[in-house]
Amino acid sequence: MGQLNSQLPLEPSQENVQRAAACLRGGGVVILPTETVYGLAANALDPAAVNHVFAIKGRPSDHPLIVHIAEASQIEGLALAVPSSAWVLAEKFWPGPLTLILQKAAQVPSETTGGLSTVAVRVPAHPVALAVLHEAGIPLAAPSANRFTRLSPTSAEDLDPEVTRQVDLVLDGGPCDVGIESTVLDLTSGTPVILRPGHISPSQLSAVLGVEVAIGSGNEKQSPGTHRQHYQPHTPLVIVEALAPDMPGIVLGEPSAVQISLGTEPHQFQRGLYSALNDLDHRGVSTIYIQAPPRSPEWAAVWDRIARASS
Ligand code: TXA
Ligand code: MG
Repeated sequence: MGQLNSQLPLEPSQENVQRAAACLRGGGVVILPTETVYGLAANALDPAAVNHVFAIKGRPSDHPLIVHIAEASQIEGLALAVPSSAWVLAEKFWPGPLTLILQKAAQVPSETTGGLSTVAVRVPAHPVALAVLHEAGIPLAAPSANRFTRLSPTSAEDLDPEVTRQVDLVLDGGPCDVGIESTVLDLTSGTPVILRPGHISPSQLSAVLGVEVAIGSGNEKQSPGTHRQHYQPHTPLVIVEALAPDMPGIVLGEPSAVQISLGTEPHQFQRGLYSALNDLDHRGVSTIYIQAPPRSPEWAAVWDRIARASS
């Protein structure tokens, strides 16, 4: 652990998946692709391994981690008093970008949940993440593989060398399909509450549950990971209604030479967002501009991320 040189991303061959799984079982830290963003994974049931993840990220120890599992049935060992809504949502959306907050079982160390009595769980949809989870046979705590408050990596190329040099192994699973983090849904009170908007929308959740889901304020005490400064490039980011051709940044329409277009479809836009910000961040410009997307519900997750990134 803690090598001097950056770990080179490895192709996700069966042999490398087995190496990653063995490393995780032995208490190591591995960077894995998921369908949302790359994760910094460790055995969720091993407090020392989890503490190492916090140290690598520079993340406050009271910011809880998401526990990734290979299949929904593994909820049983991790959570108590699981409501039927959890099984319904798992059946419909897993594997996929939905994280459920449930009452924690005693087995889960408080290090993993940042001291909370609840636990976050999801089954990721990326085949490499699933292969490692099946091979390792343990639940994996995995925050996004960025330093605290920085942009989440959505490709192996976008990983921060400061992070990769401190891990045991990196698996390259190509660019992430979703591109922003999972929707976080709290099922521990009477009403389901979205603590972090994501690819899976409130209307999709309401349609499956048959009840309205509430939208959290985004600053919940019970979800400290949703603090205001987050997803930040090093370069200041400013949201504007329109960009002049000499303003470097992200536009919805035709880009100039210093701009990147991510199109006008929200899913396509969110897939490319972090990678485009990372690219612009490395160009040495003094400000990155981003054209305000429509203020409609389909753009809520994008708005959440760009508002935090520009704060
Ligand atoms: O898509 C994702 O969710 C990615 C990939 C790697 O799976 N992971 C991710 O993890 O985004 P992280 O640690 O960057 O964000 C976890 C979010 C934070 O907003 C945190 O506050 C919330 O989940 N969370 C985790 N456990 C919680 C809990 N017990 N109660 C409330 N919120 C929780
Ligand atoms: Mg994160």
